[in-house]
Amino acid sequence: MILDGCAEQSIAAGARCIRAGELLGLPTETVYGLGADADSANAISKIFAAKGRPADHPLIVHVPDAASVAHFAATVPDFADRLIKAFWPGPLTLILPRRAGVAAAAAGGQDSIGLRCPSHPVAQALLTACRQTDGSTAQQVVWGIAAPSANKFGRVSPTTAQHVQSEFGSELLILDGGPCAVGIESTIIDCTRSVPVLLRPGAVTREQAQAVCGQKVFLSDEWIPAEATAPRASGTLASHYAPHAKVRLMDATEMQTAIDLLGQGLQSASGIAAAIAVYSRTEFKIRVSQLLRRRMPQDAAQTAHQLFAVLREFDQQGVKLIWIETPPDGIEWDAVRDRLQRAAADPGGTCENLEEKHETSNR
Ligand code: TXA
Ligand code: MG
Repeated sequence: MILDGCAEQSIAAGARCIRAGELLGLPTETVYGLGADADSANAISKIFAAKGRPADHPLIVHVPDAASVAHFAATVPDFADRLIKAFWPGPLTLILPRRAGVAAAAAGGQDSIGLRCPSHPVAQALLTACRQTDGSTAQQVVWGIAAPSANKFGRVSPTTAQHVQSEFGSELLILDGGPCAVGIESTIIDCTRSVPVLLRPGAVTREQAQAVCGQKVFLSDEWIPAEATAPRASGTLASHYAPHAKVRLMDATEMQTAIDLLGQGLQSASGIAAAIAVYSRTEFKIRVSQLLRRRMPQDAAQTAHQLFAVLREFDQQGVKLIWIETPPDGIEWDAVRDRLQRAAADPGGTCENLEEKHETSNR
């Protein structure tokens, strides 16, 4: 069921749902999350079951403010503190050493914890409501809401309440906070080592983080010596964020050639073209009318905002192949490029394949 997240009674219903140990779909400024009480192992197990995600795969815990970090984290290095002050609330997740005994299930058994303070007003209202108790009953304080993106494991993250419902059905309570402003998942920085390490690019860029930290933010392959010791991050698997259709990335020249070839046999091509979607910044001459097409914005933030919704829309139209123009080289495109490369890396487009790949990559 979808509730208007702006209504006070919806926030109260959402908080009741979390307190009762149930799952809740909630909006954040990045993507929608599938939330549960971070300190309840039973509630957390429902997230893993619903997503089809391996239980040793850690979740991000959402908190209302910086003061909540002390509940979950054992220590906060100086550079992490600076990142929190500069970017919270906002699209930045920090991996910190976990305080013993808290949120063990949410952390997938790791001795670290991913923390994020979302800026979305509905998420903020919900987290604040979960923190308040009426004082009279044995109500537990909910310190944080663990919430991975509200999609089945390996799939495109949802950016509207309707996307969440299409993943998990109408039984799930979902707070509607409108389309997500950012549109792709948060930047993740690992702060459990002596230096900051970027695990997943997002709206907070590496350069912005470096400026705030006053030191280099390493890329994971620059710093982590062996794959076996790398923290698990499903968003960092080679194939992730994959639509059902196969994704091909090509530059403008390659794409014009492909479109021209398709146009050459017009009649016979029309059936094939109906199975293809094009997402490009360049305006191509397209002679085959059946080809589905969407313009990619010239701006990276605008592209991030619509990217997952466009991929879902193409899937819904039943196309088999999505041709996407390679993003420009600029650093502002890093996060979009990352998501597109992962979408294109999916070999068969099924969850089963992704999970097999996941197990292999963590062996
Ligand atoms: O924008 C976002 O981050 C969204 C919204 C809902 O907040 N959440 C999200 O969650 O993308 P999820 O679970 O789909 O991705 C979280 C990533 C995963 O790749 C997970 O492995 C990693 O964060 N992560 C969480 N805790 C971690 C930890 N302790 N160590 C290493 N990686 C961790
Ligand atoms: Mg995800």
